[in-house]
Amino acid sequence: MNQTTDYQPDAHRYARMPYAYCGKSGLRLPRVSLGLWHNFGSVDDFGVATDMVKYAFDHGVTHFDLANNYGPAPGSAETNFGRILRENFQDYRDEMIISSKAGHEMWAGPYGDGSSRKNLMASVDQSLRRTGLDYFDIFYSHRYDGVTPVEETTRALIDIVKQGKALYAGISKYPPHLARVVYQMLADAGVPCLISQYRYSLFDREVEAEILPLAARFGSGFIAFSPLAQGLLTDKYLHGIPERSRAARSTGFLQTSQVTPERIEAARRLNAIAERRGQTLAEMALAWVLKDERVTSVIVGTSSVAQLADNLKALEHTTFAPEELDAIGKIV
Ligand SMILES: NC(=O)c1ccc[n+]([C@@H]2O[C@H](COP(=O)([O-])OP(=O)(O)OC[C@H]3O[C@@H](n4cnc5c(N)ncnc54)[C@H](OP(=O)(O)O)[C@@H]3O)[C@@H](O)[C@H]2O)c1
Repeated sequence: MNQTTDYQPDAHRYARMPYAYCGKSGLRLPRVSLGLWHNFGSVDDFGVATDMVKYAFDHGVTHFDLANNYGPAPGSAETNFGRILRENFQDYRDEMIISSKAGHEMWAGPYGDGSSRKNLMASVDQSLRRTGLDYFDIFYSHRYDGVTPVEETTRALIDIVKQGKALYAGISKYPPHLARVVYQMLADAGVPCLISQYRYSLFDREVEAEILPLAARFGSGFIAFSPLAQGLLTDKYLHGIPERSRAARSTGFLQTSQVTPERIEAARRLNAIAERRGQTLAEMALAWVLKDERVTSVIVGTSSVAQLADNLKALEHTTFAPEELDAIGKIV
């Protein structure tokens, strides 16, 4: 079947994006990746979603991050992304890295949630069906569920790779003491952990203490999610909560209670530093995460092409003077 639109990717798409090796693997990822957690569900505008994927690909963003439960409705981001691929990207699968995950609540009953073997094996098949893909490039355990032995989850990841349903395995949000067990077990099985996905931003630096060094020690790449703190590290909330914003949407995961006066004050002060650097706050916040070479990529979420364009500009200036880092450190 041929693609149904006349979309032709930009011929110069690879000239604009730096790529980094993902840990000690041979796989390079774009330093900015696109996440489909929000804005790609059945409640969202399919035209805007399609335009964002095209714009991303035209600018060298080869990596698209999904999970089984992204929507809403859960599953609809995978369904929509599959349609975008079928309609526009039939000849470009080998130029893309597509990831998905399982582990958060997805379907009814005792097997639709958590990190059991049952959940992971069923999930990967469901996600392949929804997207219409033959395989994922990366399949993640989305979380440690607090009960399932990590050995059970890790064996499922190994089997998913060995069965050809994913090329690489990754983990997300595992506490360091369990991440260590998973890294070792995956390495012993000859399926080393390609990548570790954790929240990391100017407003959330927890990974600096243990996970970043641990992942590097085991040769795992690191990819940061919510690098803009879901929009708090942009100019969006500097003057209140706009109507069209994640915090204002009933389906958004950013709660209005998280838009605190302290956060807004910090964002204002960071914004002043960004202005002096000739950047938007979003650009500076992404550049700040990317300055660490252990960070393979940042996954941005966007609700418009304009936001994506702004975020890609972060790549033009990712170094910081010591005084800038000092001033930023005092604020956060
Ligand atoms: N592993 C996990 O458990 C996990 C958890 C969360 C996320 N993730 C992954 O990480 C991805 C990114 O997470 P995220 O969406 O929270 O990331 P984020 O980049 O921190 O926040 C994205 C939101 O910030 C706002 N924004 C982005 N760029 C902007 C700009 N230039 N100017 C103004 N506002 C801007 C938009 O909000 P508005 O909608 O208000 O415009 C956008 O929806 C997800 O899509 C998903 O793939 C993984």
